[in-house]
Amino acid sequence: TLPPEITIYEVGARDGLQNEKSVVPADVKAEFIRRMAAAGLSTIETTSFVNPQWVPQLADASEVLELLGDEGRGPKRPVLVPNERGLDRALEAGVGAVAIFGSATETFARKNLNRTVDESIEMFRPVVARAHDADLWVRGYVSMCFGDPWEGPVPVEQVVDVCARLMDLGCDQLSLGDTIGVATSGHVARLLDALGDRGIGVERIGVHFHDTYGQALSNTLVALRRGVTVVDSSAGGLGGCPYAESATGNLATEDLVWAMRGAGVETGVDLEKLLETSAWMARQLGRPSPSAVVRALTPA
Ligand code: HMG
Ligand code: MG
Repeated sequence: TLPPEITIYEVGARDGLQNEKSVVPADVKAEFIRRMAAAGLSTIETTSFVNPQWVPQLADASEVLELLGDEGRGPKRPVLVPNERGLDRALEAGVGAVAIFGSATETFARKNLNRTVDESIEMFRPVVARAHDADLWVRGYVSMCFGDPWEGPVPVEQVVDVCARLMDLGCDQLSLGDTIGVATSGHVARLLDALGDRGIGVERIGVHFHDTYGQALSNTLVALRRGVTVVDSSAGGLGGCPYAESATGNLATEDLVWAMRGAGVETGVDLEKLLETSAWMARQLGRPSPSAVVRALTPA
């Protein structure tokens, strides 16, 4: 059985736009976030306070939050923060929630954070502590939970180990990242079981599937049947990680909402308004949405 309702954790403005070739102007980003909120998305990751040389697409993080004012703040508007410098910038911008982002593999930790796994956890430690001192909500992402483009399949125990270390830092929620979209349903079930065995229950877990192999929705359904109720997705299926080869867009929010509507699971999202938003964003970006549901339901 599926839960009666789920929380969609919308990542299009961050995971989506970080991967666009062109830099989207700050006012378009702010408008995108406003439109998504108006479509009923309650939790929206807005931007990243990372090194702007690493992700120039989101170098305007402070400006976007300034344009959003109160609409960009609070516990349901997280931002990505890798280190104390990022946290300082996020606090200055008045955010109410942050997300750190670790890796289950050494290669990706090096490529995405310029650190080993151990070094990156030490980098996050003061970030989580100081964020909690400031009453912020803290999410911990773990990337490459299923496969890694350089290391291949990632052992479940290795993933559980990194998850446990992030939870020990004090994260309020974990997000299991299938950065390159190679997860399949049985693998998802095995990972959730192994996390449960280590005392990390589904109530602390969100799932973050990229749709490279078209498995994101079926993987999500497996997680929901096991009691997960937080699902990451991106409006229009935007997304990808500039530091991971072969990473394409996230599960499209429209694909998720369509499936949940059919299953009688409440999401709070007005699908028609969201479709209009994704069509508007596709025009800004100059290319069509990769989402099957968006293509099916948007007039040519
Ligand atoms: P580094 O080069 O090792 O940084 O990068 P550093 O600590 O040596 O600092 C170098 C310079 O950068 C210094 O400036 C710092 O002040 C500055 P200098 O003293 O030379 O003038 N700097 C910063 N400036 C602004 N904001 C900051 C910041 N940090 C340092 N936060 C670092 C290390 C972690 C910063 C870098 O590797 C980085 O920014 N990485 C982020 C990469 C990224 O954003 N990737 C995409 C997000 S993760 C993702 O998409 C996966 C996810 O979706 C889940 C999934 O799908 O799996 C979440
Ligand atoms: Mg991602």
